[in-house]
Amino acid sequence: MEPLHSGNSQNVVLGVSGGIACYKAVELVRLLIRESFRVRVIMTKESMKFVTPLTFQTISGQPVATELFSLTQESQIGHINIADFAELLLIAPATANVIGKIAAGIADDLLTTVVMATQAPVLLAPSMNVHMYQNPILQENIRKLKGLGYHFMEPAEGYLACGYEGKGRLPDPAEVLEEIKSLLKKKDLLGHRLLITAGPNREPLDPVRYLSNRSSGKMGYALARMGARRGAEVILVSGPTALDPPSGVRRISVTTAAEMRDAVLKEFPRCTAVLMAAAVADFRPVNSISKKIKKGKKSLQLTLRPNPDILKELGENKNGKILIGFAAETETLVANARRKLREKNLDLIVANDVTEPGSGFDGDTNVATLLDSKGGVDPLPLMRKEELADRIYDHLLKLKANSK
Ligand code: C5P
Repeated sequence: MEPLHSGNSQNVVLGVSGGIACYKAVELVRLLIRESFRVRVIMTKESMKFVTPLTFQTISGQPVATELFSLTQESQIGHINIADFAELLLIAPATANVIGKIAAGIADDLLTTVVMATQAPVLLAPSMNVHMYQNPILQENIRKLKGLGYHFMEPAEGYLACGYEGKGRLPDPAEVLEEIKSLLKKKDLLGHRLLITAGPNREPLDPVRYLSNRSSGKMGYALARMGARRGAEVILVSGPTALDPPSGVRRISVTTAAEMRDAVLKEFPRCTAVLMAAAVADFRPVNSISKKIKKGKKSLQLTLRPNPDILKELGENKNGKILIGFAAETETLVANARRKLREKNLDLIVANDVTEPGSGFDGDTNVATLLDSKGGVDPLPLMRKEELADRIYDHLLKLKANSK
C-alpha cells in the first residue's frame, strides 16, 4: 500500500454520509483524481447502502475507510493518520444527522472522529429534503459550526429525489471542486479589488451582422477565477463568450467596445488593479445600418472608425492603481509589447505570440512573456491559462511590494 504522506499534490479526505446524493460524490472523486489530488474516502455505515466502498476505492485508487475500530483498517489507515493526512476534509453529501453530531461534539464513528481529530479546514456540502434543510435545529447547528470556522456550501435548488422541489440538492461536483481549490489556495490577494476584462467585442454592421474577433475569453476568465480563489474581490467585464462566470465573481456583460469602456470607467475608481485581457475591437463601422444590408451588390464598402483605447485612457489617469495589459502579437513580440507598456503607462504587459503552437485565442494554454515597467522580462514556458493567471498575480504582488 502507498504511504499516506507522499507526493506533491494536495490531500483531500472525502467523508460520505448517507444521502441519495452519494452518487454525485463518486463523480467528484473522479474530478479530484483527474486534477491530481490525492483522495481518501471515508464512508459512514448508512452511505454504504447507497454506493459500495468498491466504487470509491476503484475511482480513488485507495482503500476506503469505513470502520473506527477495525483491526486491519486501524493499522493501515487509522483515524489519526487520516486526520493528519487531510489538507482539507470535505463531507459531501453531509446529512442533517452528521451535521448534528459534529455540532454536538459527538464522535461515534470513523467520520465524526476524524472531524474531531483533524486540523485541516472542514467543508460541508449539505444535501437533504428541503424541509429538513429548513429545520431550525439544522439551521442552528450550521450557524454554530460556521461560527467555529467550519465552511459550508449552500445546497442547490431544484428537483429533489424525495419528489419535492426546493433547496437541498448537492451542488454540481464541478462547483464543489472549485470550492475545494479555493479553500486550499493562499488568500494573498485579500483586500484587492480587481477589474478584469475578457472576451471579444461585437460591433454591429446591421441588425443581424457584426464585426468581431476570435477571442474566447478564456484568459480573462482564468484571471477572474484565480483572483477570486486568492481572495480578491473580482469584477469581470465580459464581451460575448460561451463561458460561465467563475464562482464568487461579479460579471458585467457588454457587447461593443463603447459599452466595455463605460463599464470599465464606472468601476475603475473603486478598484486596486485592472487586467485588460479583452480583445477590444479596434474599429467600429461608422454607420450601423438599421435595416439588413441586402445582397446582390457588386461590392460593398465599409467605413470604419477607430474605437477609443480604454487601457490608454486609464493609463492617463492612473491614481496609483496597477494596470496590466495584454499584447497579442504576430511579430517582434518583445519590442512591440515594450512600446505598448510605455505608451499606455502600464505596470505590466503580458505578451504572447499568437502564431506559436499552444498560444493564443481559443486554447486552454498560453506561451507568454511578462514585461514590467522596471525593465523586468520573464519569458514563461507553455502553461495552462490558470497557471499563467497565477504567475501574473505573483508578479502583481511583487510590483505592489516594491512600490511601498
Ligand atoms: O494596442 P493593442 O490593442 O495591442 O493593446 C492591447 C491591450 O490594450 C490589451 O490589454 C487590450 O485589452 C487593450 N485595449 C484597450 N482598448 C482598445 C484596444 C486595446 O483597452 N481599443
